[in-house]
Amino acid sequence: MKKRFLAMVMAAAMVGAALAGCAQAAPAAQAPAEEAAPAEEAAPAEEAAPAEEAAPAEEAAPAEATGKTVGIAMPTQSLERWNRDGSYLKDQFESRGYATELVFSDNKIEQQVRDLENMIADQVDLLVIAAIDGESLTQVLADAKDAGIPVIAYDRLIMNTDAISYYVSFDNYTVGTLQGKYVEEQLDLANAGDKVYNIEFTAGDPADNNAGFFFNGAYDVLKPYIEAGTLNVVSGQTQFDQVATAQWNTETALKRFQNILASYYSDGTQLDVALCSNDSTALGVTQAIESDYAGTNSVIITGQDGDEANLANIVDGKQTMTVYKAVANEAVATLDLGDALLKGETPDESLIANSSWDFDCAYDVSSYDNGTGIIPSYLLVPTVVTKDNMVAELVDTGYYTQDDAGYLHPTN
Ligand code: BGC
Repeated sequence: MKKRFLAMVMAAAMVGAALAGCAQAAPAAQAPAEEAAPAEEAAPAEEAAPAEEAAPAEEAAPAEATGKTVGIAMPTQSLERWNRDGSYLKDQFESRGYATELVFSDNKIEQQVRDLENMIADQVDLLVIAAIDGESLTQVLADAKDAGIPVIAYDRLIMNTDAISYYVSFDNYTVGTLQGKYVEEQLDLANAGDKVYNIEFTAGDPADNNAGFFFNGAYDVLKPYIEAGTLNVVSGQTQFDQVATAQWNTETALKRFQNILASYYSDGTQLDVALCSNDSTALGVTQAIESDYAGTNSVIITGQDGDEANLANIVDGKQTMTVYKAVANEAVATLDLGDALLKGETPDESLIANSSWDFDCAYDVSSYDNGTGIIPSYLLVPTVVTKDNMVAELVDTGYYTQDDAGYLHPTN
C-alpha cells in the first residue's frame, strides 16, 4: 500500500504533475545536461522526459538552486532500463535544485571513461555511475578522488577502486533467487518424484558484477534439484562462464540458444525451462525458441526488468515471468544519499530511518566487497511479475499504462 502510494507519486512527478510536499515534482530551473551530454544519437530518454511545462506553476515551486552539479553516467540507451534510470535520476536531482549532466556511453568502455573524464573536468560535485565494465574505471575514478568528487556506484558495483563511497542497487542475489523459486514452484520440484525436467541457463555480462549474483541466486535454489536429477541441464552448461552473455546482448543470447536447440533438442527432446537472468537475454532466447524449437510445450522463461517487449511477451504467453525492480525508487534512494554526501554527511543506516521512503531498503555492510574493501550498500527489494499480477504491480502502481489490447507501456 505504502509502496503503491510512492509509486503513484513518482508517476505523477514523472508526468510533471506536482504534488504538494513532494520534492520530486519540482524541476530545477536550469540543467546544463542537454548541452553537456554527448548522448547517443537517438535519445528516447530525453524525448520521453516529463513535460515540465505541464506542471501547474503555482504548485510546482522550483527547488532553490544549489549551485551544484551531479554527473550521471549510464551505460547505454540500447538496453531499455537505463533510459528510465537516467531520466529518473536527472529528474530527482533537478527536483532538489541540482543541475545535472546525463551521459549514456553506448556500452563502450573507453567512451564511458572519456565521459567521466569530461565530467570531472567540468568539476561536477558528485558522480552517479552505472558502470559498463566494473573493472575498468580504476584510473578515472582515482582522478575523481583527487578532485574530491564523491562517487556513488549505481546499480552495478564498481570494482578495484577506493574512490566509491557507496553502492545503491537492488538485492541482486535475491533477483536470482526469485527466478529460481519461481521455477521450483511452477514445476513443484519438491514433489516431482521421478519426473525429470529439462532446463538451460542464460546469464548476463561477465563485466557486470551483478551478473554473477543473479546467476548464483537462481542456481543455488535449483542446484539440489540438478544434483538429484529432477532438473537436467541437457547441454551440460552449468558454469557461469559457459552461459554468460557479453553486454547482455539480445542477439548474442539468441545465437547461443539457437546453437543449444540445434545441438541438444533437435531430436525432439523437450525443453521445460529457459532460466534467463534478465529481459534482454530472455528476448533473444524467446526468439530462438519461437523459430528453432521443435517442441510444442510452453517453455517457462524467466527474466528481469519489465522491459516493454518482454511484458508484451508475458501478455502473449511467450515469456512467463520477469523480476521487476522499481528503478524510480532506486533513483529516490540515490538522491537522498547523494544529497547527504553533498552536504558533507557520512550516511549510514539512519539514512533509511530518516527518509520518507515508502519502499523497503536494506543497509548492507557485508555483501559487496569491491576488492578494496566492503562498500556500504543500500539495497532495494525486487518483485516477481507475471501475467496474473502485472496490472496490480505495474499499472495500479503508476509505473506503466495498459492499452486497450492489454499491453503495458512505461509511463516514463
Ligand atoms: C541490471 C539489470 C539489467 C542488466 C542489463 C544489470 O546490471 O541490474 O537490471 O537487466 O544490467 O542492462
